[in-house]
Amino acid sequence: MLKQIQKKPNMNMLIFKCLQMALLLVFTSRYTIAEKTQHPKRTYIIHMDKFNMPTSFNDHLQWYDSSLKSVSESAEMLYTYKHVAHGFSTRLTTQEAELLTKQPGILSVIPEVRYELHTTRTPEFLGLEKTTTLLVSYGKQSEVIVGVIDTGVWPELKSFDDTKLGPVPSSWKGECETGKNFNSSNCNKKLVGARFFAKGYEAAFGPIDETAESKSPRDDDGHGSHTSTTAAGSAVAGASLFGFASGTSKGMATQARVATYKACWLGGCFTSDIVAGIDKAIEDGVNILSMSIGGNLMDYYEDTVAMGTFAAMEHGILVSSSAGNGGPSQATLANVAPWITTVGAGTLDRDFPAYITLGNGKRYNGVSLYDGKLPPDSPLPLVYAANVSQDSSGNLCTTDSLIPSKVSGKIVICDRGGNPRVEKSLVVKLAGGIGMILANNQDYGEELVADSYLLPAGALGEKASNEVKKYVFSAPNPTAKIVFGGTELGVQPSPVVAAFSSRGPNTLTPKILKPDLIAPGVNILAGWTGKVGPTGLSVDTRHVSFNIISGTSMSCPHVSGLSALLKGAHPEWTPAAIRSALMTTSYRTYKDGQTIKDVATGTPATPFDYGAGHVDPVAALDPGLVYDASVDDYLSFLCALKYTSFQIKLVARREFTCDKRIKYRVEDLNYPSFAVPFDTASGIRGGSQKTSTVQYKRVLTNVGTPSTYKVSVSSQSPLVKIMVEPQTLSFKELYEKKGYTVTFTSHSMPSGTTSFAHLEWSDGKHKVTSPIAFSWT
Ligand SMILES: *[C@@H]1O[C@H](CO)[C@@H](O)[C@H](O)[C@H]1NC(C)=O
Ligand SMILES: *[C@@H]1O[C@H](CO)[C@@H](O)[C@H](O)[C@H]1NC(C)=O
Repeated sequence: MLKQIQKKPNMNMLIFKCLQMALLLVFTSRYTIAEKTQHPKRTYIIHMDKFNMPTSFNDHLQWYDSSLKSVSESAEMLYTYKHVAHGFSTRLTTQEAELLTKQPGILSVIPEVRYELHTTRTPEFLGLEKTTTLLVSYGKQSEVIVGVIDTGVWPELKSFDDTKLGPVPSSWKGECETGKNFNSSNCNKKLVGARFFAKGYEAAFGPIDETAESKSPRDDDGHGSHTSTTAAGSAVAGASLFGFASGTSKGMATQARVATYKACWLGGCFTSDIVAGIDKAIEDGVNILSMSIGGNLMDYYEDTVAMGTFAAMEHGILVSSSAGNGGPSQATLANVAPWITTVGAGTLDRDFPAYITLGNGKRYNGVSLYDGKLPPDSPLPLVYAANVSQDSSGNLCTTDSLIPSKVSGKIVICDRGGNPRVEKSLVVKLAGGIGMILANNQDYGEELVADSYLLPAGALGEKASNEVKKYVFSAPNPTAKIVFGGTELGVQPSPVVAAFSSRGPNTLTPKILKPDLIAPGVNILAGWTGKVGPTGLSVDTRHVSFNIISGTSMSCPHVSGLSALLKGAHPEWTPAAIRSALMTTSYRTYKDGQTIKDVATGTPATPFDYGAGHVDPVAALDPGLVYDASVDDYLSFLCALKYTSFQIKLVARREFTCDKRIKYRVEDLNYPSFAVPFDTASGIRGGSQKTSTVQYKRVLTNVGTPSTYKVSVSSQSPLVKIMVEPQTLSFKELYEKKGYTVTFTSHSMPSGTTSFAHLEWSDGKHKVTSPIAFSWT
């Protein structure tokens, strides 16, 4: 999601309106259209019924073309899809789209939607140094290919150096596509493939302005270079951003290969391009797909990306996606399909301090990546932006909102939110200010995100911000001084859940807990584009090879790279097995036993914030047992959602009829976590029975040596009785499967109540731990 994490109420409203429109415009053969007026053309993704091609056609392309021509003489196919859908995308008017739905063999005509991009010490923080010896004995990591759907790459980065790598895996079928500022010599044994997908984008916005962005895999934004080098960049000694976070920069899987699929452009990413990227990635032979992008939630059979990732999962590809930057509000998740690994964000133990001292002598600790000329060493006049602006949103330091005569020579306090944080520093600078304090409100709490501001500036948490403002409003001549402290390591507590990290519960499928886990996503150093400076602002002419940015966009590729490590160590594991290993071995407490905190509140976080916990790759290499899941399990899941055969065909591109004799249940999907929503009303039957009982079934697969596991349950709350049957599971062989049942008996609780517990299988050596999240609705 956006690299500059911002709340954008107006933008959200806009997206919401677009989504409402999009939902209205989804025509499947079950929907009729209310709107009859002429609309301009837009892009639709058309799913055809593979198994019911009229016999009058010899080939599918001919069939597609004929169906299309029957509603529009002029329409041309943008893409034809092979794996993610059986079908194509094209531009149509509303009427044409409606007509097309009525043609024989058309399953659905879905309007495309726009997605947004949701950033070296990480390996040490994760304990990856310890895995070196473990991994040498396996050594298949270099066979693993991580596909990244993003803004492309900057191939000249040292992070793509391939000198220590062997030949490209023979299974690789991808290509290095040529385009503006990019040709086949930009790929090598590290960057093994690079493609771009611009047809949907150009159909919507017109031809790409090649003076602004390259119509090629080249990254003009920075986001894609950052995510791909985080996942699998080579080690680069002496990396830093202006000396901040200096050290060796390396991806999670330094020997894995990278293939970039550029589907995101300066104006966003369109689903017709995204799924074209997924389609090619499947064909090319990637093993892991990293997608730090997201849109709004919609039913899986209307969500083209959910369908595309289902196809990827079928091909054994693990798809890792960002959970979104909608936190700390509840129920803000993106990418919740159970065949996707959904990653939230936590902090590292690293900080970039900026000390702000007020005229009253009080000092506050903030953060900053400012690296320019230092401000005068004397206290400077301090003003609050709202007091030196005529604009109603002047407190946010929006463009042109400050009155230069009232700002000149002063430090300005700007509230966080609205426009990008670094843009605020530019607005202050242009108005003649010589410093900025970025003030958190309650939305951001104590979360500090460091930025490479364009003038001396520091970010403060909510408490300090309130005190600084109180001082400005009361002192006759308020002043402040900003001093910068470089890079600080060993900051505790860490990790804490980032305020921006999107939170559960999962509103689309409440019985599946999301996010799945968290990984580092705050102030992450990784590779950057040569096209724009670290702030991404056009006035920022600085050039850097590494940048420090934040978001669930940055935590997602950590998990993608770690999945590549696991895939290299255990090539036979399914995507579900890899995810299970990452989840059941993740941790939820600090060394002192305290639960990981939520920086937004300062209180202990819950599984709705961190899922199974914070990733621990060393433990994940040897999980003991995994909760595996196959395509059949996901088909049963779709049956449990009461999807019709028609809807299942849309998601899974196959004829599948749910067996009427089977009682399919979402709670039986073999997931490594438990989300248990209780209906407040259903617990009270006839006024007498005040408890409600639900059962969840799970199956464990042994991926270790023969062993006997015993179950234990830690409940932090007396609200629910948890019973597991059987209590002991003995595994004699590798890949042996054993099932168990958990029974949850709850008292009726007021709506809105939540409670949490953990269930753990242990043989004394391994701990296979699952979070349980109860909620009463
Ligand atoms: C690729 O581009 C570079 C730089 O423009 C050029 O030197 C090189 O010859 C090109 N290689 C190919 C294979 O076209
Ligand atoms: C500055 O703004 C604050 C908050 O909007 C307000 O309470 C205060 O009175 C203002 N001070 C001046 C001098 O206008």
